[in-house]
Amino acid sequence: MEEKDIYILAIESSCDETAASVVKNGRTICSNVISSQIALHTLYGGVVPEIASRKHIEKINQVVDQALEEAQLTFDDITAIAVTYGPGLVGALLVGVSYAKALAFALKKPLVGVHHIEGHISANYIENKELEPPFICLVVSGGHSHLVKVVDYGEYEILGRTRDDAAGEAFDKVARAIGLGYPGGPKIDKVSNEGNPDAIHFPRAKVAENEYDFSFSGLKSAVLNYLNSCEMKGESISQADVAASFQKAVVDVLVEHSMHAVKEAGVTKFAIAGGVASNSHLRDALVAACEKEKILFYKPSPIYCTDNAAMIGVAAFYEYQKGVRHGWDLNACPGLKLGER
Ligand code: KG4
Ligand code: ZN
Repeated sequence: MEEKDIYILAIESSCDETAASVVKNGRTICSNVISSQIALHTLYGGVVPEIASRKHIEKINQVVDQALEEAQLTFDDITAIAVTYGPGLVGALLVGVSYAKALAFALKKPLVGVHHIEGHISANYIENKELEPPFICLVVSGGHSHLVKVVDYGEYEILGRTRDDAAGEAFDKVARAIGLGYPGGPKIDKVSNEGNPDAIHFPRAKVAENEYDFSFSGLKSAVLNYLNSCEMKGESISQADVAASFQKAVVDVLVEHSMHAVKEAGVTKFAIAGGVASNSHLRDALVAACEKEKILFYKPSPIYCTDNAAMIGVAAFYEYQKGVRHGWDLNACPGLKLGER
């Protein structure tokens, strides 16, 4: 191992994935271990916060051990410990934060707290070694829908955000309403392949005060109204047609806002991030739109779109290089804003 190599051991526990990863020099993933709780939460139709926290505490040692083992490294080789400290579920975040603090304290290594969304955005650096800021990034996850200008590493300008539901939340709620179950995103993605996206016209909401903002609650209500009216009329519904038509309404708005933002910002690069960014129809639509507008399009592989610790290690590397270190008073911040430290 060369003296200058920087190995970051990163921990992520903000929602329902217990994850640990070792990242070398910012962009090389030595290991990426994810213990998903999806099967457990499926029983309840969504994430149950207390169950998530309890599962994190049960799994975290094992996941960290495996991350070191797969990287063929020991704690001695690690330069710094990184952890997601917000936003997310407070109990879930506290498990990762306390674990990381204890580890950093015992090993006498620096501690770097990372913003979860900064992690999602940074996932783009893993497979696109040439990607550097500035670029526009569409962040669409279960808890967030943001259009962000990545001005520089760790420097963000939020152009637009959702006024109500996040895109992933809308996917999950609609999936539940049409009987697909949890988690809704991947199921709608799949069943839509058999449906007609133009079968039902659902609204594409515009937010008057900010052209980059999103609103998905009206769309969700429109789907629920459609389902109710079919039921009252005794008409059967096509799950695939509803899924495909709903998905098209979401994708149309995301693509339109993104292309508008890229053109207005005068940048040539556009990236996507977050769980919904793994949606195959959204990815295809963005490939086509970027080709038409002659914009370079970057997307992480689906495994780096949904929650993972590799993305946290990448973000931590750039924070570490900037001199960011957190103290023993680091706490979980469920409502942490992007760009805050
Ligand atoms: O980024 P993520 O793993 O967790 C959060 O930070 O929220 O995102 C989870 C969200 C869920 O709402 C899930 O339904 C959605 O991402 N999702 C998808 C797909 N895969 C995951 N949504 C649409 N299509 C997918 N293929
Ligand atoms: Zn996430």
